[in-house]
Amino acid sequence: MVVADTIHSKIVNMPDIQTNQLMDPRAESRADPLERDRRVLDLYEQLLEIEQRLIPTGLHVFGRASELSEKADLLRMVASFDRPEHGARALPKLVAEALGIDRYDALLQEASASETRDLIDSIVSEAVRQFCEDGADAAVKWLNSRAGVDCEKSLPVFLLLANIAEQLDSNHEIESLMRALRGEYITPGPGADIVQNPSVLPTGRNTHAINPYAVPSQMAFARAQGTADALLRRYFEEHGRYPRAMALVLWGLDNIKTQGEGVAQALHLLGVRPVRDALNRATEIEVIPLDELKRPRIDVVMTVSGIFRDLFAPTMALLDKAVRRVAALDEPFDMNYVRRNVLEKIEVDGGEFDDAVARVFSNAPGNYGTNVNFMVMQSAWETGDTLGDLFVTRKCFAYTRDSKGRTIEGREARDLMDHALSRVEATYQNIDSFEVGITDVDHYFEYLGGISKAVEKRAQARPAIYLSDSLSPQTKIRSLEETIRLETRAKTLNPKWYEGMLKHGFRGVAEIENHVFNTFGWSATADAVDPWIYTDIAKTFLLDSTMFNRLQELNPYSVRSLTQRLLEAHDRGYWNPDEEILEKLRDLVDNLEDQLEGVV
Ligand code: BEZ
Ligand code: MG
Repeated sequence: MVVADTIHSKIVNMPDIQTNQLMDPRAESRADPLERDRRVLDLYEQLLEIEQRLIPTGLHVFGRASELSEKADLLRMVASFDRPEHGARALPKLVAEALGIDRYDALLQEASASETRDLIDSIVSEAVRQFCEDGADAAVKWLNSRAGVDCEKSLPVFLLLANIAEQLDSNHEIESLMRALRGEYITPGPGADIVQNPSVLPTGRNTHAINPYAVPSQMAFARAQGTADALLRRYFEEHGRYPRAMALVLWGLDNIKTQGEGVAQALHLLGVRPVRDALNRATEIEVIPLDELKRPRIDVVMTVSGIFRDLFAPTMALLDKAVRRVAALDEPFDMNYVRRNVLEKIEVDGGEFDDAVARVFSNAPGNYGTNVNFMVMQSAWETGDTLGDLFVTRKCFAYTRDSKGRTIEGREARDLMDHALSRVEATYQNIDSFEVGITDVDHYFEYLGGISKAVEKRAQARPAIYLSDSLSPQTKIRSLEETIRLETRAKTLNPKWYEGMLKHGFRGVAEIENHVFNTFGWSATADAVDPWIYTDIAKTFLLDSTMFNRLQELNPYSVRSLTQRLLEAHDRGYWNPDEEILEKLRDLVDNLEDQLEGVV
């Protein structure tokens, strides 16, 4: 992995940058110097965000240890979090304190503090570089002389980094695979992201999951409060009120890695907290009083993956219990949207409380996935409604109690899901890793895109679509469009990313094509891709003859699919480039087909 730094020049040179994506500091604001300064700062903030984004610069090769540059970036990220379990504090905080800067957390949010942040970041980067070259003692001494950081305080951080660096240098994956094939014992280890939980190292162990009763952990709930509040704040700023209902996507692996942050976010939106029983299992919930919550309880429709359903049965029961408890509270409708939506449904459609309150949905038992990604892959849909309907067909199995109080494991409840989604005004998913983002795999668009399309038809309005990443020390909420722009700049169009991929030859070209396909998936399911993205993809990979020739040589199949996908994006109205570009792309497809069919 690497930080996406050298894309500065590329960003600044992008021809349509001013009109389309980043704010133009000159337009509209000439008359108002304050407004102009604010816009320049905004622009700077966005560039910084791209620059600092951690991105993978190649695929993991099974059995191979990470390279030095990758290691330094990873270690810097590890060092930017407090690690109380290792007695280590976040390095940027230690530097800030030593420089006499208090309120470090607030500093991260303030645009006007960017110079101070730059200074701290550069000191931290240099300290980690010194560590990689000369070891912990040298880094500790350097930090003390450069920034006055107390050696006793920084030593635990570098001891932790030394331990991680050593584990990154060794790799027992092949050895463990051989042991597994011989049926021998493999040491177990937790599964998570290295930055989130460095104890996942060394790799090559038998990854174990989690005790579902431990979810959500206290830490997950504490972090989730901040994220859910930021999410509601963002919606409020954009709409002047809270969303009446939200649809959340919950995945199994993510909730393992974060010890249930997604689950905790849902609970916090409902205005409840988990309570542990005598065996320390999170099986109960406690209602947060409205005067403490200071906002309405948000109705939450949860679509959980098949993996989540298989791993987290008690957690699904906890979520179902939370919704029921909140719906039954004697509170005014304008402070309890769950109660309002449930009672309105009963009043309009009749039916039982136990049905109207169903909010936890997944596939039928034994089934996985939404198939929306496959439908998009095969271009087998006409309108967005088809994709949203497919999502509901696959995911409309309610995991809730029936009217006799029995828990029913996945009963088909299409009407109930249709109704619950018809109230939704915002959809949301948490990203749990820098390595796998929303254009890396097709699962994000099949889930978050799929549910957003389903909402669009049922609520007769496109929902606001948000994502957050739970890896940064401070949570940042982004709209889907912002996230796609960020990922496109940090990865797909970033030479550091695609050159890293191209080192893998045939497979690397396939990865680039995957990114383009996944980007296209966001047009199909959420109309969320700016046209300039397709133009720049075409220019970078297809219209530049040197690059095109490289790709064609390495993997003509993927280049053909990529080109066809761009033409499909045009046919479906997602992108309307100059006729000259279209002509050129059509020619490329013709030539590639001739080549692949052996005509030339
Ligand atoms: C999950 O962890 O639940 C998941 C993983 C990949 C795709 C979809 C869901
Ligand atoms: Mg994930």
